[in-house]
Formats: sequence, structure tokens, C-alpha cells
Amino acid sequence: MPSLKTQPVSSAAASSAAPPPAVRVYEVGPRDGLQNEQAFIPTEDKITLIETLADAGLARVEITSFVNPRWIPALADADRVAAGLAHHPRYAEAFTALCPNLKGLSRVDDTPLREVAVFMSASESHNKRNINKSRDETYPKFEPVFAACAERGLRVRAYVSVVWGCPYEGAVDPAEAVDVAERLLAMGAYEVSLGDTIGVGDPAQTHRILDAMTARIPIEKLALHMHDTRGTALANCLAGYEHGVRTFDASVAGLGGCPYAPGASGNLATEDLVYMFERMGVSTGVDLDRLVDAGLLAQRLLGRTLPGRALQALSAGRTP
Ligand code: HMG
Ligand code: MG
Repeated sequence: MPSLKTQPVSSAAASSAAPPPAVRVYEVGPRDGLQNEQAFIPTEDKITLIETLADAGLARVEITSFVNPRWIPALADADRVAAGLAHHPRYAEAFTALCPNLKGLSRVDDTPLREVAVFMSASESHNKRNINKSRDETYPKFEPVFAACAERGLRVRAYVSVVWGCPYEGAVDPAEAVDVAERLLAMGAYEVSLGDTIGVGDPAQTHRILDAMTARIPIEKLALHMHDTRGTALANCLAGYEHGVRTFDASVAGLGGCPYAPGASGNLATEDLVYMFERMGVSTGVDLDRLVDAGLLAQRLLGRTLPGRALQALSAGRTP
């Protein structure tokens, strides 16, 4: 019997027509997932998790955050995580980390990282809670980071958070998010990842947001970063795919949340995303069996069952 994991079911994939466009999967679990955990996961365990994720073939793995460790104590070992992976053959191509300012970049300088990510919010209140600055105060902090990265040949990705809704302000005007995304791209970001930080969005809203974005920004420059607080993350990604988005963020086993966004529970589980796309005949470049190994490892490290649903189904009967 063909494997349920990989057997494509869509008529497009089953026909002799060209396969549907492939996607890139950007793994945020070791950063977005672990930043929210109360327990401090030992550095060696974080490294093993990241290695397992990289070996599964994910296009990128966000390994940690070079932020103030007093703000994000769970990732206070960022420097040691980055150093401990130095031997990894996919380091320069696949690893990346959050870096909000020059202080963060001075720490990145001690690592082999070739990519970093900055982050801002579509709403003023979330930006203040998350970065301790207004949006207007944040751009000048980013400018020297972009300039220094350009000098060093580092790629810079940018996040725009709370695009689908803000925990402090409620509805967010897509025009605000478009403005932030455009400015970050103009500053030198190669891609902007649009975040549904608190997982409130629906597919119709996703199409509206992408309509507003693509009136000013090429779709190739956009990625989606959906949290799954209300179970709509996968549907939003499918809407994004239909709209032309080809890069999706997800978190192993559905780990995740944002400490400065009350109610932001897990990110979309990477296994769920990869399972859906592979079944549709959309190539992700990810080895789902190896990804399940990473999901099981994440569960062991955290000592609890994690929310990823494909992980539970695909690992049933396996020795944990
Ligand atoms: P600040 O307090 O305004 O910074 O923090 P400051 O420049 O005034 O410096 C204050 C102190 O912080 C100084 O130390 C600095 O050295 C230190 P002191 O002199 O008091 O001992 N400091 C740093 N230390 C280490 N590394 C650094 C660094 N920068 C300053 N890089 C800052 C500003 C941005 C640093 C702070 O607000 C912070 O660390 N915020 C972290 C927020 C965060 O990580 N949030 C979660 C990630 S974002 C997210 O989850 C959303 C996302 O997933 C997308 C989505 O879901 O939408 C990306
Ligand atoms: Mg997030």
C-alpha cells in the first residue's frame, strides 16, 4: 500500500500536468518555540534539536535570538548555541537568528551566521511591548544593522508582527502593515514575513491582506508566519499558497508563542504544514520522517505532548 504520508491526493498532482510550485519551509521552533518556555532547555539539547531539524532538509532554521537575555531568558545561551553548531555543514546556508540592534549584531559577529532577522510590529502598542520603542524609534535602530549586514554580506529577513490583529489594539489596518513591510524591504530586507502573532486570522482576511500587500510589494518578497491559536493557521497558509506565497514559517511540533503577545499559543506545526503540502504534490524539500524525529525529540525535551497533529498521527506506534 502506498505511504499515507506522501501519496498525493489532489487531482492536479495526480494528473500528468506539471507539479504545483514548490514551497520553502522556514523553521522557527528553536527560537519562536523555545522563547516561550518556562523551562530552560540545556544548550546541548537545543543543539541536537537544531541539528535534527537541519538534517530533515528545512530551508532555514532560526536557531536562537540575540536579544536582551533579561527579556528572553529561555534563549540566554544564544552565543553558546551558535558556537556549538559551528561544525554543521549547512550552517551558512540554513541557520539564522533574531537580531534587533547593533548590540545583537556584535554577538552575531562571533558566529558563522550569514543571515539574521529583524522584527517590528504593524501596531504601535505591540512594537512598544516587544521592542521597548515606538515604530519611529525602531527604524533608526535597524538602519545601522542593515548597513553593517550589507557590508558583511549578511542576508537580512524582516518580520512584521500582529498583521492579522493586535492583542492590545484589536483590528489592524492592513495599510499600516504594508507601510512597515515596504520600509523594511527598502532598507534592505530580502523578504518580509507577515505574522499572525496571536492566531486570529481567517483565509478571507489573508486574501485581503495579501491583496493590500501585493498592490505595492512583489509576492516573492512575502512569507507567512501563522500562529495556530484558533486552529486557522493551516487554512491561512493554503490561502497564501493560492495567492502565490511560496515561503512559510512553522515550528516543530507546534511549539511557540510570543511572550509579549498575550494569548499567542503555538505556531503552526511544521509537520502539519509539510504533511499538507506533500499530500497535495507540493514539494517542500523536507523529509517528513526525519521531521517527526525532531518533533518527538522536542516532546522529550519539554516533557509533554505538543500540539502538532500530524506529529501525533505519524508517530503513533513508534517508540518515543
Ligand atoms: P532596550 O532595553 O530598549 O535596549 O531593549 P537598550 O538599548 O536600552 O539596552 C538596555 C540593556 O539591554 C543594556 O544592558 C543593553 O546592553 C542590553 P545594561 O546596560 O542595562 O546591562 N541589550 C542587549 N543585550 C544583549 N543583546 C542585545 C541587547 N540589546 C540591548 N541584542 C531590545 C531593546 C530590543 C533589546 C529588547 O526590547 C529585547 O530584547 N526585546 C526582545 C523581544 C523579543 O525577543 N520578543 C520575541 C521575539 S519577536 C516574536 O516572537 C514575533 C515573531 O515570531 C513574529 C510573529 O509571531 O509575529 C518574530
Ligand atoms: Mg511568532
